[in-house]
Amino acid sequence: MASIDNFEFAHRHRREVVWMSQNTNTIPMPRRITDAILRSVEESEYNLYPFKRGLFGLPEAVKEDLGLEDQEVLITNGGIEGEYMATRALLRPGDEVVSTDPSFLPIHDQVAMAGAKTVEIDIYRKDHKLRADWASEAVTPRTRMLLLIDPNNPLGSGYTRSEVKGLAEVAREHDLWLIDDITYRDFHPDHALASEVYPEKTLISYSFSKGCGLAGMRIGALVGMPEAMKGIKRYDTNVLGTNVLAQRAALAALECKGEWLPTVRKVVNRNQEIIRDTVKKVKGCSLPVYPSKANMFVIDVSATGADPNAIEDRLLHDHMIHVRAGGYLSKRFGSKFVRVSFTIPTEQCEKFAVAFPKVMESLAK
Ligand SMILES: Cc1ncc(COP(=O)(O)O)c(C=O)c1O
Repeated sequence: MASIDNFEFAHRHRREVVWMSQNTNTIPMPRRITDAILRSVEESEYNLYPFKRGLFGLPEAVKEDLGLEDQEVLITNGGIEGEYMATRALLRPGDEVVSTDPSFLPIHDQVAMAGAKTVEIDIYRKDHKLRADWASEAVTPRTRMLLLIDPNNPLGSGYTRSEVKGLAEVAREHDLWLIDDITYRDFHPDHALASEVYPEKTLISYSFSKGCGLAGMRIGALVGMPEAMKGIKRYDTNVLGTNVLAQRAALAALECKGEWLPTVRKVVNRNQEIIRDTVKKVKGCSLPVYPSKANMFVIDVSATGADPNAIEDRLLHDHMIHVRAGGYLSKRFGSKFVRVSFTIPTEQCEKFAVAFPKVMESLAK
């Protein structure tokens, strides 16, 4: 419950808070993105329902970004809406979905909404990724889907091309749907798409929230082969289209990706080093995964005896830094860690470097 109160506090103090709790991105982006939003407002483009297929050029730009040609792109209110449609359309009561623990649990909640069950494989152990043989062992006659979050939220582990291939082959062998959640792809320079190996039943969940900082715009996409998308679109409740300002921002962001992506990666690399050096100084704390292939770390605090919820509370209320206690991401391992995201300006990350050791010193048992 602490997190709900903390989010209200953080939003009330939005301008002062260092936002390391939701993997959002507050690094300044090119002016061109803001200009695209403002132009649309000035032209009152919002008077009309947006063209359902998406702004002219937007689905094409998403495909170009992914290097895919044959897939269909459904523009959605954030990647999470597409995942809802897919789980709703493809799962039936009693079905099983192979996933991980930790994971981004709101997708597991969507699986449960369809009456299906998530089988959570422990990846809070070396190499902190889902191995193909573990996935294969977890498959039963009821398994319908494999959920791959690559890079992983919260661990920041990224899969190699051959690991993605191995998992896609497990999915193919058992005729499973494969949700390839690539929300954090922009932070993983060697990222590989499962669609390259298993296009027919892979559905990509694509987000504009993290790389280019458009989380509040609520825009993303679901990408899959037209035949696969046909059945899923029956569950598209958003028949009147996605917010036009969000689409303008998304299109502009893709058009100038060559400008912002190198900057974002540079800031993220620097921030990772700062956090690593900070964690090293605190007895009992460690980073299970370094470097992160996403924009976040898990900091394991279990050897300190400190409660992650207390760490979240102290950092926020004493230092105006918002991180997230692990309970949001794992029922089993959540009491061992906090998750910190670092797509923030480096000056803000330096505040974390000062505050974290102080908070840990005050809480260590
Ligand atoms: C793994 C994962 N998938 C999906 C989402 C939702 O992304 P969006 O903001 O595009 O709905 C998140 C958000 O944090 C996430 O971590």
